[in-house]
Amino acid sequence: MTIAHASGKVIMFGEHAVVYGRPAIAVPVTQVQAEAVVESGNEEPSVTIVAKDLGRTYRLDEAPPNDPLRLIVLTTLEHLKVGVRHDLTITIRSTIPVACGLGSGAAVSTAIVRALARHFDKWLTARAVSDLVYEVEKIHHGTPSGIDNTVIAFEKPVYFVKDQRMDIFWVKEPFWLAIADTGIASPTREVVSDVRRVWRRQMHRYEKLFDRIGAVTEAGQQAIEHGDLAEMGRLMDENHRLLQEIEVSSPELDALVVAARQGGALGAKLSGAGRGGNVIALVTEDTSGSVSMMLRLAGARDVILTEVR
Ligand code: PMV
Repeated sequence: MTIAHASGKVIMFGEHAVVYGRPAIAVPVTQVQAEAVVESGNEEPSVTIVAKDLGRTYRLDEAPPNDPLRLIVLTTLEHLKVGVRHDLTITIRSTIPVACGLGSGAAVSTAIVRALARHFDKWLTARAVSDLVYEVEKIHHGTPSGIDNTVIAFEKPVYFVKDQRMDIFWVKEPFWLAIADTGIASPTREVVSDVRRVWRRQMHRYEKLFDRIGAVTEAGQQAIEHGDLAEMGRLMDENHRLLQEIEVSSPELDALVVAARQGGALGAKLSGAGRGGNVIALVTEDTSGSVSMMLRLAGARDVILTEVR
């Protein structure tokens, strides 16, 4: 029996603009995890998936060709050069809320890749894990930037430019984020394609907005590297305003952002694709309680506190 885990993630700066070549920053969220357990010996030459949270058990050779778990398992087995016919049972559990920007899909895939590699005594670099997961992300997201698989496979804050740069960086002063769930699913693929539709019509305006988001992200990295919490908070607020302008916020997200600031957060913004999903707020030891309370009063389904270090 082999077991492996992968953390969730949030985007701190730069979502959407990252699809158009601007930088983004994402950080791991270690408080939530996906887990994959690989066992040999179900006595049939096929892989059985037990998806605990969905209450589903199925054989991969009976799953539709674009089933994401089928794809990640087959792609990984092929990459490991161990043949694709195995009597394996892969059990998956996750505490990462689904479809709200915490990277649950990429984390489940990452846990599976890691568990399979260990099961067959193979060593994969974080880059190789990330690349395998990216193949499946393309099916979930349409045109993914690749940021989810990168931050989750490397388990470090990353500064990311699609197809160009991926810098892991160090946090000078560890800081705390409150992550508040609207309880509304955020369909990344749809939101990304809606943004693309408007971008085609208003290219000049959207390119300018993406440039401004890019500048906020650059400044955000500096602020994180210098441990300047006040500046980080200010930049998160600014990033949220720009996301409102590209029309990916919603009344529910805006209400949580306002509530976080009323509770004493240094800054707050939506995180991920938007329309639903999460808001992140920069908190301190002194304000985490009041911010969490205000977020819940404003309708947050759940609030996760995570330390970024
Ligand atoms: O909601 P998430 O965490 O899957 O984030 C989507 C982030 C986007 O920039 C909107 C899309 C992408 O592929 O980077």
